[in-house]
Amino acid sequence: MKENSKSLASMKFYIRTFGCQMNENDSERIAGILTAGGAKMSDSPEDSDLIIINTCAVREKSEEKLYSCLGRLAPLKKRKRVVIGVGGCVAQLYRSEIMERTPFVDFIIGPDNYSQLADIVHSSQEEKVVSTSWSEDFHEFPSEMTLRESDVSAYVTIMEGCNNFCSYCIVPFTRGREKFRAKENILQEIQSLADNGYLEVQLLGQNVNSYTDPESGKDFAFLLRELNRVDGIEWVRFITSHPKNLNRDIAEAMKESEKVCRQLHLPIQSGSTSVLKRMNRGYTREEYLEKIAMLRQLMPDISLSTDIIVGFPGETEDEFQDTLSMLAEVRFTNIFSFRYSPRPKTAASREKDSIPFEEKKKRLIQVQELQKKMQVEFNRSLIGRTMKVLCLGKSKKDPAVYAGRNQGYQVVNFRSQKDVTGQFVEVHIASCGPYSLVGETV
Ligand code: SAH
Ligand code: SF4
Ligand code: F3S
Repeated sequence: MKENSKSLASMKFYIRTFGCQMNENDSERIAGILTAGGAKMSDSPEDSDLIIINTCAVREKSEEKLYSCLGRLAPLKKRKRVVIGVGGCVAQLYRSEIMERTPFVDFIIGPDNYSQLADIVHSSQEEKVVSTSWSEDFHEFPSEMTLRESDVSAYVTIMEGCNNFCSYCIVPFTRGREKFRAKENILQEIQSLADNGYLEVQLLGQNVNSYTDPESGKDFAFLLRELNRVDGIEWVRFITSHPKNLNRDIAEAMKESEKVCRQLHLPIQSGSTSVLKRMNRGYTREEYLEKIAMLRQLMPDISLSTDIIVGFPGETEDEFQDTLSMLAEVRFTNIFSFRYSPRPKTAASREKDSIPFEEKKKRLIQVQELQKKMQVEFNRSLIGRTMKVLCLGKSKKDPAVYAGRNQGYQVVNFRSQKDVTGQFVEVHIASCGPYSLVGETV
């Protein structure tokens, strides 16, 4: 090491995270590795010796987001000695290109390389490091090392990567093919979370429904049934499910397992069978609707959410209307909607991005307005009810108000006489907005 190189133990670090829950969980691991090496977490880049940007590549502007973030760090780098690293999906995708464009970056680290982070931070003080290797196997990460954001609800990664190659999606190119974590390791991690007081776990993976235990070959439905037996854990959720792989067996396992929340995020992307075909999604509108009917028949109170893309190449007005009518038919509790943007390496990016920006914007507003109207109606129908809520902490805006989620994963803000953080409480719903419920403990 250079004489004036800093050791991890004398460093303060700052992490900026973009992207999905998988990336958030990765940042918790990065923080854990650095803390285990003696470094201290900081909430300000100015105050830090090590800055890591954990990037997401899924939608447009991810590169611009990274470069504008780096641009803001450039003056800092001139002023003081600070090690700057870029991790996550953009790092995996662009590798040394980032270094060429922003030469003051000290290291690039792909999502499969975090176990070498401590060494990389050391060596990057001598020379630039690009570490984006990829392994076929799932990398175990010691659970106790993860520095989790919450003491109540924990992310648990069960698989990584994706084999689906939806025509618009970059994930198979940034996270590689599917690899599954051994069931015994998942169960062990969840048991130790329960022993440490966690009440909720959220299983993570790009396509959790395709989970297969590498040792026994047991599937996702089997895993859910086993998790239902972990003492101490009260609520289990999972994200993301692919409609093509969500079958009756999984739905029955959900129904039988009282700890598995009556909630499912099932991204449809479009309500038009012809668009779904061009997206390479592997199901039709009708097949999706049949699965929704099956889920609701088994679990009438299930809370459903979805993802929508508007303005996919060649999406006609009629095809777009199919998305609106599908939303009206299903009546989701919540949706995430996006304007299509071409991503490098994907099949759709070879098509003309034919829908003009203004039209995409108009379609997105129509989707969001329709959904907002239905959400207000649904949330109003909950006024007067009392429901179980897991309190996740104090509201950021008002310390007398607590924030939590109900079983359907809706945000509930409520008043309570005492601090109930980390507990289940019964909340009486008195009012609502389109995106949250408001009440007080009973
Ligand atoms: N593995 C998950 C999440 C994928 S990314 C899944 O399969 O559902 C999250 C969401 O981003 C997707 O569901 C999709 O709605 C959106 N998305 C992905 N690529 C996109 C693109 N090129 N343009 C716009 N939205 C996109
Ligand atoms: Fe992307 Fe499709 Fe895989 Fe989801 S299932 S990560 S949208 S390729
Ligand atoms: Fe983004 Fe990578 Fe997650 S592209 S959505 S951070 S898997």
